[in-house]
Parts: sequence; C-alpha cells; structure tokens
Amino acid sequence: MSKILFDCDTGIDDALTLLYLASLVRSGDAELLAVGTVHGNIDPRTGALNTLRVLEMTGLGSVPVAIGAGRPMAQDVHFALEWHGRDGLGDTFLPEPQGAPTGESAPAQIVRLAREHPGELTILATGPLTNLGAALLLDAELPSLVREVVIMGGAFDHPGNITTHAEANIWHDPEAADLVFAADWPVVLVPLDATHPTAVGDPWLTKLAAHDSDAARFATRILEFYVTAYTPTLKRRGAVIHDALAAMLVVEPKLCEYTERPVHVELRGALTRGATVWDARSLPADDDRRPVRVATGVDVAGFQDRLLAAVLSL
Ligand code: BDR
Ligand code: CA
Repeated sequence: MSKILFDCDTGIDDALTLLYLASLVRSGDAELLAVGTVHGNIDPRTGALNTLRVLEMTGLGSVPVAIGAGRPMAQDVHFALEWHGRDGLGDTFLPEPQGAPTGESAPAQIVRLAREHPGELTILATGPLTNLGAALLLDAELPSLVREVVIMGGAFDHPGNITTHAEANIWHDPEAADLVFAADWPVVLVPLDATHPTAVGDPWLTKLAAHDSDAARFATRILEFYVTAYTPTLKRRGAVIHDALAAMLVVEPKLCEYTERPVHVELRGALTRGATVWDARSLPADDDRRPVRVATGVDVAGFQDRLLAAVLSL
C-alpha cells in the first residue's frame, strides 16, 4: 500500500485530488501520512485551511497539515486567483475548518517522514516545488530515503499555460524544480502533454452534479468557477483537473505511457524561463542526471471514469 505525503497549493484541482486521495484511503489502497502546502495557486496558509476543510469533509481530519514555503527561491511570488478564486476554492468562502495546521514546516515534515519510513514514502507534489527543493537542501540523504516522487508539472510538446513554454508549477519556482530534477531519486513527471487531453466536459460534469452527497456538491460548486475560467482556453465547457492524474498514477501507473529522459529547467531564458527541457533526439550519454519518467500518452476514459467514481464513492 502506498504511503503518500501530499505537497500541494490547494487550489481547485488540488482539492479534487484530495477527494480522490480520500477515496483511496477509504478503499485501503493508500495511506495519506500528511499534507504540506506551498505558495502557488494561493498563499500556503490559505492552502492549508482549504486542505483541512476537504480532509474534514471526508473524515480525514486527523491527517496532519503543515504550512510550507510562502515564496519561491529566487523570484517574486505570484498567485493564480483568476483560475482558483480569491479563496483558492472558487470564491466559495467556506466556513473555517475545525482543525489547524501543525507547527512543523512542510520541508521539515518531508525530511522527518522520509526518515521515519525509509524506502516507503511516495511524495506526490502538485504545486510549485519549493518545499521539495528546501527539503533536499535540509537533508542531503533525502533522495536515498524516498520511494518515488510523482509531480504534476512541466510542458514538452504541449504549450505552457503561463508563458508559451512554461507550465505554472515549474514557472512559480524554476530553481526549486531544477534541484528536484537534478536529485538522484525516482521521479515521475506528469506534464500538460498528459493532463490536457483528460479535460472533463459536460457529460462528466452533469453526472457529478446529479449526485447527492457533500463531496459531490462541494466538487460541483468549486468546479463552477474553474470551468468558467477554462472554457475560453478549451473552447467548450470543461476543465482540466491536472493534479488528480498525478495522484492516480501513484496507484495506477499503467494509465499513462512514459518517455524516460533527464529533465532540466530553463533558468535564464528571457522568453523561456521555467520551461522544462529534455533532449528529444535520444538519451544524451553525457547527461549525468537520472532520467525522469515523463507521462506522455494517457487513457482519457480510464482517468475520467476513475475520478468520477472516486468522488461519488465518498
Ligand atoms: C497546475 O497549476 C495549478 O494551477 C494547478 O493546480 C496545477 O497544479 C497546472 O499547471
Ligand atoms: Ca496544484
């Protein structure tokens, strides 16, 4: 059974991913050891309160939530309120959660849990990679302690979603992302190339809205804002629930096809800062970075059906 530490910037698709993770915990397919939050869609304190709201709704209120980095390593901080709302949950302004974040910092929590569960911990990261980068700086042995790191981020053949070349999670902290790709640990990267084809549309949203449960009502409510934000890009009613695909690959890696190559992050380009870069010609023999498993092809119906079933199961 996967032991997951979830690092996120909750955020609408991060919140839907929490619902998916809650369904895995209920079915006994995963253990959610802890959550850490980071700047990105919203500030990490608001992200932590949003996380607690979703955990409490799904009966997982005892999962510890730690606040992490409030800014990137080497640039100004930006939030994505136009995609996720001023509260990060589509301007729903839900009541305060009952619980509170722990006093531990998210990077320290990563190091502690990796040491407590050597060789067993899966880090699922669906926000900027500042907490992971900081954890690598805190403990040089971290890569050898972690089972796998599964990240939503990057864009290769697909255009970026912040600039032509850069995807949001990488663009928010390119230096941290490059540290993560340079470390000697097994990384699965789920870029826009894999997530965009999974965009849900009207039939999926209608089935969700028809279901009578707290989780389905909450998902429908937050998706309303996200769908409005996404519709001009998709040119139809719909939304890309990026982060849930990364979570799904932790337990069902066969839902995607992969290409294995070292990955770098462009740190200096005036037009390309934050772009994920690989050598598309072949495996470069002189690249000393460990290859990353980059998700490329995706089973779209498999993803959509499983996500819907997960939310409806709660
Ligand atoms: C990523 O950026 C955020 O807005 C989403 O939550 C997702 O993690 C997609 O580029
Ligand atoms: Ca996210």
